[in-house]
Amino acid sequence: MLTAARNEMLTRVGPGTPMGELLRRYWQPIAGASELDSNPIKTVRLMGEDLVLYRDRGGRYGLIDRHCPHRRADMAYGWVEDTGIRCSYHGWLVDQTGRCLEQPYEDTTSPKPSKAGCETKAYPVKECAGLLFAYLGPLPAPELPVWEPFTWRNGFREIVLADVPCNWFQCQENSIDPVHFEWMHDNWGARMRGADANVAPKHLKLKFEAFEHGFVYKRVREGQSEEDRYWTVGRVALWPNGFYLGSHFEWRVPVDDENTLSVAWFFMRVPKGREPYVQERVPTWVSPLQDETGRFITSHVINQDIVAWAGQGRIADRTKEHLRSSDIGITMMRGRFFEELEAMAAGKEPGGIIRSANEAQCIALPNMARELNTEGLTLAEFDKDPILRQRLKEFRHHYGQPAEVRREFVEAMGIAG
Ligand code: FES
Ligand SMILES: [Fe+2]
Repeated sequence: MLTAARNEMLTRVGPGTPMGELLRRYWQPIAGASELDSNPIKTVRLMGEDLVLYRDRGGRYGLIDRHCPHRRADMAYGWVEDTGIRCSYHGWLVDQTGRCLEQPYEDTTSPKPSKAGCETKAYPVKECAGLLFAYLGPLPAPELPVWEPFTWRNGFREIVLADVPCNWFQCQENSIDPVHFEWMHDNWGARMRGADANVAPKHLKLKFEAFEHGFVYKRVREGQSEEDRYWTVGRVALWPNGFYLGSHFEWRVPVDDENTLSVAWFFMRVPKGREPYVQERVPTWVSPLQDETGRFITSHVINQDIVAWAGQGRIADRTKEHLRSSDIGITMMRGRFFEELEAMAAGKEPGGIIRSANEAQCIALPNMARELNTEGLTLAEFDKDPILRQRLKEFRHHYGQPAEVRREFVEAMGIAG
C-alpha cells in the first residue's frame, strides 16, 4: 500500500515532476523507423509533451515541438525537406536541433535577417534495430544502450505498438509479476478455451534480484526444479520502464499521466539452413485493443496483460491495494524508484545510465533463450518444442498481425503459409 502522495510521485510524468524528470534521463523507444516510410511525419505525445517526429530527406531524424515557433501552427501538417521540416502556414523551416533555418518573408525583405531567439524545442533521436529512441533529458545525452539482442543477426524482427489507456507504472509493475502468468495467461487462457478447472502448474517459489539494469525474477512451478532456466537464469524487469523475456522486449512509454505507449520488439531467429538472412526493414504495426463492441480483445498474451493494466484504472489507486509475498518484486521496484528520485533530488545521476560508448555497445542481460537466438535450431527441432512450434504457427503476443507481416515472416522462416 502507498500513500496518495507516494502514488502521485510514482505516476506523474509531466515536465517538472520528479518521475517525469527521472524518466527523461533515459532513452525511450517512441516509434518504429519503418513507420516513417509512407509518411515521414508522425505526431507523438511523450510524458505530456506534444511533439512531431520526422525524417527529413537527408535521412536525419527530428523530434520537435508540435507547434511552430512562429505562431504555433501544427508542424504535423508541414512537409520535410532536404534538411528539416517546413511549416505549411508561412513556410518557416526548422532543423532537428530546433534551429530556425528559414523565415521566407524576412529572408526576402530584410537586408540582414536574424533568426536568433526563434529556436524551437528539439530532442535527439537515434535509430537502433529498427526502433527510434528519443532522449528528453538534460544534455549531454547519455549513450543509447545497445542491448545484446539488437546485435543478433539472421533473425526476423518486428515492432508492435499499442495505445494503452492507463498510467505507465501499473504496466511496468507487470514486468516483475511472475504469478500472473499462471492465472492470466494459463488459467484464464484455458477457461476462454472452455476449460472447467484451474489446471496451470502452480508457482511454488519466487526469487527477485536487483542489478544495475533492473531486476531479475526467478520462479519454480509445479513440474520444474531449481535446475530449470526459469530459476537459474530468470527474466528481467528492465530499468526503468522495460521488460525483457529473452527473445523480445517490451517498454511502457508514458504518453501522459493516463496513457501509455506499449512498444514491443520481437526477434525470431530463422531456422538453420535459412541463413544468411538479412532483414532490410523491420515492420512496425499497431495492435488494436478493443473489438467492435468496445470490449478488450483477450485472445493474445499482451492483450491479456493490457486488460489487467487498464482494469486497474487510469491511475491505479495504490492506497487500496494489499501487497503479499507474491509482490516482493513490486515493492523492490517501487523502492528503487523512490531511492533514485531522492538521489536525483540531491543532484546525483540516476543508476543504469551509460556514459561510455564502449560499454553501451553490446550489453548482455540474463537470457534464457540466448542459444536459441544466436545458434539457431533446425525446423525439425522447432517442431519438437511446443512453444516454438506455436510461435511458427501464429503470432501469439499481440492481436492483429497484418497479413503482409505474416507473409514476410513465413518467407524468412521458410515455412509454408
Ligand atoms: S505559424 Fe508556422 S510559419 Fe507561421
Ligand atoms: Fe503477462
